Amino acid sequence: MAASRAAAAAAAAAPAAFTTTPSPADPHRYQTGFGNRFASEAVPGVLPVGRNVPQRVKYGLYSEQLNGAAVVSPRDAIQHVWMYRMRPSVAHGRVSPVPGLNPHIESCFSRANDKVEFVASQEAWDPFPLLEKAHDDDGAGVDFVSGIRTVGGQGDPTLRQGLAVHIYSANASMTRRAFCNNDGDLLVLPQHGRLHVQTELGWLMVRPGELLVVQAGLRFRVLLPDGPSRGYIQEVFGAHYRLPELGPVGSNGMALPRDFEHPMASFDLDDGEGEGAPPWDIVYKLAGGLHSCRQAHTPFDVVAWHGNLAPYKYALDRFVNLANANHDQADPTIYCVLTAGGGGGGGPSLTDVLIFTKKWLTAEDTFRPPYYHRNMSTEVMGLIRGRYGGSSHGLGGGGLSYEASYMPHGEAYATWREATTRALRPETVCDDATAFMFHIGAPLYLTRWALRGEGAATRHGDGEEAATTTHKWDDVRAHFLDHLDDVDADLRAAGLPSLVRRSPEKLN
Ligand SMILES: *[C@@H]1O[C@H](CO)[C@@H](O)[C@H](O)[C@H]1NC(C)=O
Ligand SMILES: [Fe+2]
Repeated sequence: MAASRAAAAAAAAAPAAFTTTPSPADPHRYQTGFGNRFASEAVPGVLPVGRNVPQRVKYGLYSEQLNGAAVVSPRDAIQHVWMYRMRPSVAHGRVSPVPGLNPHIESCFSRANDKVEFVASQEAWDPFPLLEKAHDDDGAGVDFVSGIRTVGGQGDPTLRQGLAVHIYSANASMTRRAFCNNDGDLLVLPQHGRLHVQTELGWLMVRPGELLVVQAGLRFRVLLPDGPSRGYIQEVFGAHYRLPELGPVGSNGMALPRDFEHPMASFDLDDGEGEGAPPWDIVYKLAGGLHSCRQAHTPFDVVAWHGNLAPYKYALDRFVNLANANHDQADPTIYCVLTAGGGGGGGPSLTDVLIFTKKWLTAEDTFRPPYYHRNMSTEVMGLIRGRYGGSSHGLGGGGLSYEASYMPHGEAYATWREATTRALRPETVCDDATAFMFHIGAPLYLTRWALRGEGAATRHGDGEEAATTTHKWDDVRAHFLDHLDDVDADLRAAGLPSLVRRSPEKLN
C-alpha cells in the first residue's frame, strides 16, 4: 500500500498554528479548531472553487458528500463533508451480515434484550486484560472491530437515541479492513498503546492521554504501532459531541477550540498490487450488528475534502482547569471536555465527558474530596494513567467503575475523618493521574458480558471482595450522637421541645 505520496503532500502543506509538531511519536500534521469548516488537499488545486459539484472534478475525481445531520436542520446543526475521491464509496460488492465477527456488541438497551439488565449496586472492574502478542506470525489477531466489548448503554441507535459504553482490547492491526459505524459517533480513549488511525479524511496518531472522535458514517481503520492495546469507547446514537457552553466563564477556559486537531487529506494508491491482491473488507455496524462487503480497491482514496464533519483528537492535558479560589466546591461539570445531546431544548444532556487532570486545590474551610452525593446521572469512570484518589473503591488503569442513577456514594470514613481534621494548604491532585468520567443523563443498562460473562473476570464484588464491601461502611460514626447534651441545651435555649420528648417511643 502506498501511503508515501499522500504523506509527502501533507507535509508540504503550510504548518497550521498550534498543531502538534510532527515527531516519531506522531508523524502527522493537523488542522486545528472546533466546528469550523476545514479544507485540505493532498494534491494542490484539486478542490473545486465556488461550487461543490462541478461538472467535472479535476483529474476525473468523483465528488461525494457525507451528511451527518437531518437534511433540513438549523444552520448550526448542519455537519457535512465533501470528498473528492478516486472512486465513489458505493463501488463495492454485496453487503451481508457477519454475525460471527463480533457477537459482543450490544446496541438495543431495553427489557426486550435479555443480554442487558439494570443493577442498582455500585460496580467496579479491575483492568480488562490486554491480549497476548502472538509468539509466531500466524497467531490469529483480534483487531479493533473484533475487540470491542459493550459494557452498558441506554436507548437504541434505530431511534437515534441513547448511547453505549464499550471497552476494546486488540492485538492486531486492521490490514485490508475498514470500519464504518452507522450507529453513532465514537469517542475513543486509548489507555494502553497508541492507535494509528487512517480515516477517509486522513491520518491521526492517538496516544493514551488523548481522545479521538470518529463520526458516524466515516470509514476508518486502526493500526496498533505499540502492539496489544486497550482503551475505552463511548458511542452516542443520533447526536454529535460538542463543546459545552461557557456561561459566566466567558470566552476562555476548559477545552479550548484551538486544541482540537483534525487530519489533513491523504490518499493511498493500491491498484498496482495486481490480480492476486486480497480484497478490502468494509465492515458496517448497523443496530449493533456487523455487515461486510468486499471491494478490490482501497477505501482511502480521498484526494481532497472540505467541510465541518471531520474526525479529531484532543490532548487531555491541554484542558484548562477552573477552580474555586476562596471556598466551597464546584460541580464536576467544570471538568467537562465534550457534551452531547439535550442541552439546547432544556432537557438533560445525553452525556458529559469529564476529565480529571493535574490541578491545584486552594479552597479554604472546605471539605475537599468529592462530597457525598446522589445524582440523577449515571457515572461511568475509567483511568488512563496513575492512581485516582477516590477511596470508595480502587480504580486501576484500564479498569472501570459504575454508579447507578440516584444511588448514594462518597468517600470512606477514614477519608472523611482525615479531610475534616487536616490543615488545608494549597496542594495538587492528579499529579500523575489522568481519569475520566462519562456523566450520563439516563439510567444505564449493563451487559451480561460485563456482569457475568468474560468481562466479569475482573469485576469486584465476588468472593472476598464482597465480604469487605458489605462491611465497608460499618465504621461510619454518627458524631452527632456524641453531642446530645449540647443539642438539648440549644433546643431549650430556643424554646423548642427537648430531644427526649421527640423520641419515637413518646410519639405513640
Ligand atoms: C492475539 O490474542 C489472542 C488471544 O489472546 C491470541 O490467541 C493470538 O495469538 C494473538 N494474536 C496476535 C497477532 O498477537
Ligand atoms: Fe459521583
